[in-house]
Amino acid sequence: MTNFSTHKETKMRTIIRGPSWWRHPRWTAAAVATAVVIIASVFEPAAADPQTNLLNKGCSQYNATNVSDFYMNLNATFADIRSQIASEGKRFATAQQARTSDPVYVMAQCRNYMSTADCTACFDAAVALIRNCSGANGARVIYDGCFLRYESNGFYDQTTLPGNVGICSNRTASSASAFDSAVQGLVADLKAATPRITGFFAAVKREVVAGGSITVYAVAQCAETVSESGCRDCLTVAYGNLQSCPPDAEGRAVDAGCFLRYSDTAFFSNNQTTNIAPFLGGGSSNNNKAIIGGVVGGGGSLLLILGLILWYKLSRKAKKALRGNILGATELQGPVTFSYKDLKSATNDFSEENKLGEGGFGDVYKGTLKNGNIVAVKKLAIGSSRAKADFASEVTLISNVHHRNILRLLGCCSKGPELLLVYDCMTNGSLDKFLYGERRGVLNWKQRFDIIFGTAKGLAYLHEQFHVCIIHRDIKPSNILLDDSLQPKIADFGLARLLPQDQSHLSTRFAGTLGYTAPEYAIHGQLSEKVDTYSFGVVVLEIISGRRCNDMIVEPVTEYLLEQAWKLYENDMHMNLVDETLDSNEYTEEEMKKVIEIALMCTQSPASSRPTMSEVVVLLVTKHSTDLARPTRPTFIDNDKRVRGDTSASAGSSTSHATASFTEFTGR
Ligand SMILES: *[C@@H]1O[C@H](CO)[C@@H](O)[C@H](O)[C@H]1NC(C)=O
Ligand SMILES: *[C@@H]1O[C@H](CO)[C@@H](O)[C@H](O)[C@H]1NC(C)=O
Ligand SMILES: *[C@@H]1O[C@H](CO)[C@@H](O)[C@H](O)[C@H]1NC(C)=O
Ligand SMILES: *[C@@H]1O[C@H](CO)[C@@H](O)[C@H](O)[C@H]1NC(C)=O
Repeated sequence: MTNFSTHKETKMRTIIRGPSWWRHPRWTAAAVATAVVIIASVFEPAAADPQTNLLNKGCSQYNATNVSDFYMNLNATFADIRSQIASEGKRFATAQQARTSDPVYVMAQCRNYMSTADCTACFDAAVALIRNCSGANGARVIYDGCFLRYESNGFYDQTTLPGNVGICSNRTASSASAFDSAVQGLVADLKAATPRITGFFAAVKREVVAGGSITVYAVAQCAETVSESGCRDCLTVAYGNLQSCPPDAEGRAVDAGCFLRYSDTAFFSNNQTTNIAPFLGGGSSNNNKAIIGGVVGGGGSLLLILGLILWYKLSRKAKKALRGNILGATELQGPVTFSYKDLKSATNDFSEENKLGEGGFGDVYKGTLKNGNIVAVKKLAIGSSRAKADFASEVTLISNVHHRNILRLLGCCSKGPELLLVYDCMTNGSLDKFLYGERRGVLNWKQRFDIIFGTAKGLAYLHEQFHVCIIHRDIKPSNILLDDSLQPKIADFGLARLLPQDQSHLSTRFAGTLGYTAPEYAIHGQLSEKVDTYSFGVVVLEIISGRRCNDMIVEPVTEYLLEQAWKLYENDMHMNLVDETLDSNEYTEEEMKKVIEIALMCTQSPASSRPTMSEVVVLLVTKHSTDLARPTRPTFIDNDKRVRGDTSASAGSSTSHATASFTEFTGR
């Protein structure tokens, strides 16, 4: 059985290696740009209100291992952030100390309407309160005026997490029904506009009744390190959480990556309002109910559906959930439990018509829940009693993985005759269809690069940023799903652990996909996260070439994709690999060569010579390929497991052993 305290132990000894994906140059640029905007508006008198009304607080249940190291890191990061706020006038700051056994990542944000003095005072109050979590390795404090959070791993791109919640006041506003509809309209506008505004902040006010006797004030804000779509996802959930508040006079919604608040009382000064009109492209929101109806009816917005699911979930859980319990990656939540009967009827008794596909771990069915939400239900083809016993703890772990490039597990069902998992339904299906299936040729180069980049980020998260290292072991295009905007979501992670041991490697199950399987794993069962790096490299070659790795090219010589790619590379003919359906105006030769070389680096042997996935993320955004070390040729392996080429390499220097083949969740 998985034991989380054991995972914690191993995790705590982790030293984060190499640069992390969140030091993405684009974000740095965005942060600088926003800082400039903020500095321009800093110099104004303090209203002397740090707004330290506490909305949410939580301490991780895990403690740091080396307390002196931990406090050194915590103090250094807090001091760094305080100087960014007090001296540089920032309203958003991050800082991290990741070099020792107890890494600390911190994020702090003030509402932009706060003066520098108020923001600093709010931050100081948050620091004082968060220190009461003693040695907890993660904690957060959310005030009206600011929030502060630290974790032992990178979390800067998190948007919405379990624990997101709406907080309503008990006071009812006057002119209740007019107030209600004014709030609905204003908050919907904020939700639409804020993700498009540089800095992700907007403060607005709107008269409820003419003459200004009743006015509604509202703000929305996202962490500056999330993407525009991440901000939108988060505010969509926050918006759902606020739905039940009006006509209460005040409402707030808190989440990991955003904040939403409205009130009938001014809480920022008049000159701090944002003109959001230019950011409200499309229709007016006065009629937002009609817009929602249209979007859902058109099946257009999974995000909205996700929001509604969360809202539904939260409203069903009623007020039992302890506020302040979650919102931190360091605390694991149990999965939502669905009833077998509901899932059976949602999928039309698991009918053939509802079948979306057959995965390595069982069949997948499209389901329509009673509330109209569309989900994907996976029927696990794992019946052993051990699997059943492990199911609960594994699913708890999986359902706590939140990353925009990883398919979200909505819940599970273990009470019926089968073990069922419920996921977001991705209407665009899997990547293989786009590479060599019915939708071949649809993806342009930018979309393909985004898929490569997103998949790398998702894997880096699973390997290095989650509590425990999750090795996927079966990365291939059919396990990479595409959302509405063709962004990748990695599916089927973490399930390998439920397989009986004798199937974990070297089984017939792998015969068909051996092309993605690292040789040291296929032959010797040596498992490490570099097994995923290898598969990722092969998938990148497929994305570039539009060719299946297992298809042989017969002319001029018999070879599989990987061999062909290496030969072309060695003869400096990389560009011959590129899919003919790609428009050559969409990419530069240099860029394409760089990505091909990164893919080849990922397929090297021994495993230790392959980059980690966070290194891959950095390489992908690095401008020039000249810095790349020249990759060394790997072991080639046929489907019949005949080894060719450099056989010595297969011994590898990986630290894993055959006996470790059942420990995908390894300490690092
Ligand atoms: C904590 O780490 C420091 C240096 O990183 C080391 O000197 C010290 O012995 C460690 N303390 C414990 C209790 O492990
Ligand atoms: C960290 O700061 C706190 C509060 O200022 C102080 O009590 C503690 O001694 C500091 N710890 C280290 C290791 O610097
Ligand atoms: C921290 O906890 C102590 C004891 O429980 C309490 O007296 C103190 O007021 C708390 N500090 C803050 C800032 O809440
Ligand atoms: C904004 O309004 C506040 C009071 O409402 C005032 O003190 C301040 O000077 C104003 N700031 C600017 C830049 O006009």
